[in-house]
Amino acid sequence: MKRSAIRELLKLIAQPGMISFAGGLPAPETFPVEPLRAAADKVLTTLGSQSLQYSESEGIAPLRDYIAASHSRPGYTVRRENVAVVNGSQQALDLLGRVLLDENDTVLVENPTYLALLSAWRPLGVRFSAIPCEADGLRVEDLPALLQANPKLAYSIPNYQNPQGSLMSLPRRRRLAALLREYGQPLVEDNPYGDLRYEGEPLPDVFELNARNGDAGVLETEVIRTGTFSKVLAPGLRLGYVVAHPSVIDKIVLAKQSTDLHTASFNQYLVLELLQSGLLKSQIPKIRDFYRLRRDAMLAAMARYFPDVVQWTHPQGGMFLLATLPHGANTSDILSTALAQKVAFVPGADFHLDGRGENTMRLNFSYNTPEIIEEGIRRLGQVLHHALAQCPRQPAQPVTTAIFSASGGKLTKSSEASALRR
Ligand SMILES: Cc1ncc(COP(=O)(O)O)c(C=O)c1O
Repeated sequence: MKRSAIRELLKLIAQPGMISFAGGLPAPETFPVEPLRAAADKVLTTLGSQSLQYSESEGIAPLRDYIAASHSRPGYTVRRENVAVVNGSQQALDLLGRVLLDENDTVLVENPTYLALLSAWRPLGVRFSAIPCEADGLRVEDLPALLQANPKLAYSIPNYQNPQGSLMSLPRRRRLAALLREYGQPLVEDNPYGDLRYEGEPLPDVFELNARNGDAGVLETEVIRTGTFSKVLAPGLRLGYVVAHPSVIDKIVLAKQSTDLHTASFNQYLVLELLQSGLLKSQIPKIRDFYRLRRDAMLAAMARYFPDVVQWTHPQGGMFLLATLPHGANTSDILSTALAQKVAFVPGADFHLDGRGENTMRLNFSYNTPEIIEEGIRRLGQVLHHALAQCPRQPAQPVTTAIFSASGGKLTKSSEASALRR
């Protein structure tokens, strides 16, 4: 197990005056502190010590029922036995790896992908097989050939992916859902960012397109869907869940028993109370407006301050974008200069599987205010101008994920821009 590059970085960025685009922190201003205070009071008044007792490893029944109901659609029913509550979706990913994967198994992942998924599953001795992930999601056309190798599991983040912010198009979602069914291929669909949509219409999840009622109304699906309350409520609650076939849930529950017995009972009652109060109906639109401003501030500042040869993604939601420097540039080297100028980002290489991505960097836009974003991007722009001028390089090859480039301080749409809108 390697120490996570991001965690190591987070130590450095605590220095005073540092502007960090490195972490993936939600903005604390969005945390519903007062509703949580009222909910805590209500839970302690109505349930008292029951809310503080040990509870079921699968999660408390009313919360599982709530999650099940919110995932049911006219064509299929999600039931309590399809749901396990866990300590954030990160625990779901960790447990899923441990119960479903063996050494030398092949696992299909998007390239680039979520760093902490790689950190969770790499120690299991699995082989990662990379599917390129473009502005409109993983290249589903490549899947049939890759599925011939009988991968044990596939992993995808269709909504506003980490690290690129890419959004899988509807045709790709449909094709993916059909292929999973045709090949009986299990897929973990990780969806922490689906509610953080700043433009466009919502798209159905792959789970939604794949799930159906089987015999006796039992849910049939190849998709194992992970979700979280970290981005819409607060990450410190550590509350996430898995929705899947009962055979998968049973395995997770076994692993959960030996890991931590169960997810904190009190936090589950707290979140249940917030959900039942309807808080998310007002909370989600507020968060969208709040983060849209920050995304726009970052995109505008990048257009103003970044060298023309740098390209970047234009996410329609989520918390991150990925910038691509010309080939030959190394963002790990540039990071030390950036830190000296008191601005931080995550070099992109760690999100990639095949030694690519050395010339990319992930930038988070959810945490800093628009003013701080402007100043941080100004600093980073100076660092990039200096780094790229010292060592002149070829402009970036057309990258499918990079869709906007800075040109004369204006945003210029490149040909891939329309692809992202699909
Ligand atoms: C793609 C992805 N999956 C899972 C997680 C884990 O989130 P949590 O454990 O807070 O639910 C994150 C967090 O940033 C993420 O980006």
